[in-house]
Amino acid sequence: MSEIYRSTTTAPVNIAVIKYWGKRDPKLNLPTNSSLSVTLSQADLRTLTTASCSPTYPTGDTLLINGQSQDVSGARTQACFHALRELRKDIEYEKPEVPRLSHFPLHIVSENNFPTAAGLASSAAGFAALVRAIADLYELPTDPTELSRIARQGSGSACRSLFGGYVGWERGTRMDGKDSMAFQVAPASHWPDMRALILVVSAAKKGVSSTTGMQTTVATSTLFPMRPKEVVPRRMKEMAKAITDKDFETFAKVTMMDSNSFHASCLDTYPPIFYLNDVSRAAIKAVEVINAAAGKIIAAYTFDAGPNAVIYYLAEHEAAIAGLFKAILGDKDGWENERGAAIQANAAAV
Ligand code: PMV
Repeated sequence: MSEIYRSTTTAPVNIAVIKYWGKRDPKLNLPTNSSLSVTLSQADLRTLTTASCSPTYPTGDTLLINGQSQDVSGARTQACFHALRELRKDIEYEKPEVPRLSHFPLHIVSENNFPTAAGLASSAAGFAALVRAIADLYELPTDPTELSRIARQGSGSACRSLFGGYVGWERGTRMDGKDSMAFQVAPASHWPDMRALILVVSAAKKGVSSTTGMQTTVATSTLFPMRPKEVVPRRMKEMAKAITDKDFETFAKVTMMDSNSFHASCLDTYPPIFYLNDVSRAAIKAVEVINAAAGKIIAAYTFDAGPNAVIYYLAEHEAAIAGLFKAILGDKDGWENERGAAIQANAAAV
């Protein structure tokens, strides 16, 4: 018998407006602070993943991302495989008639429809899709909250990609991480006209990985402790209210301030971490020019662990924002590169 069991799923990218930065437990990927993000539309930026297993596969799990074989021996990937296998074993124990899939090697094949190493949260969509594909393959209960606890162990931000719309990640207080999981603040349909313009400033792999960066920031920055202590808890409340009230100005202001705070902590790290470059700073200026011209805040920038800008705005300002960005940044290096000028994504459209 050469039966192959297979399941395919997709997971979208999410971009945080309140940033996760800092681990209180690096092994379980428990964060020092809660965070909040917007899940982008599957149509724009997503990972497509097929998980399969078979008794006929050669020994050893494999993972292919965009056709390239990946090392699966890392603790993160292993933690996800292990947690999912354990849940499958429970089913196999209770129902001896089901095939013993937990014992078969896993083959995971994943493809991104965006540059993998461009700092576009590829690990978030990647681990979310990996966990859901295996959960479907194993016929596990696919409650996104439960899966978010597992995906978190692959990549922290991945836990938020299991929900659409506006998504929080509760830091939790337990040592075992059972209360550190994602939750939906509001579905995409609550505020469907949110848009995200992603400026691919550089498609190069980031200089300092988020894991290394976080550890060094936690260990050395004097600014950082303010974030988990008071800055982020206050902003989590402000942001959730702004989303509930569809108050774009507050949403935008808090988004920009939190990005600034995160990058200030990076600069305050020793040795310093610089994720922003001159084009990133030009994008910040452009947003300031747009908002000044409008006489109110109609655009918000945010940057993850890399120079690429994500600009949030409402659909009604599409022409003003996308048009002005092109006009202001059109002559700068990095605005147009071989990957095209920018990726324009529908935010919160899932
Ligand atoms: O999920 P990680 O470990 O790659 O960390 C992501 C950290 C940021 O993207 C900078 C912020 C966030 O909340 O997504």
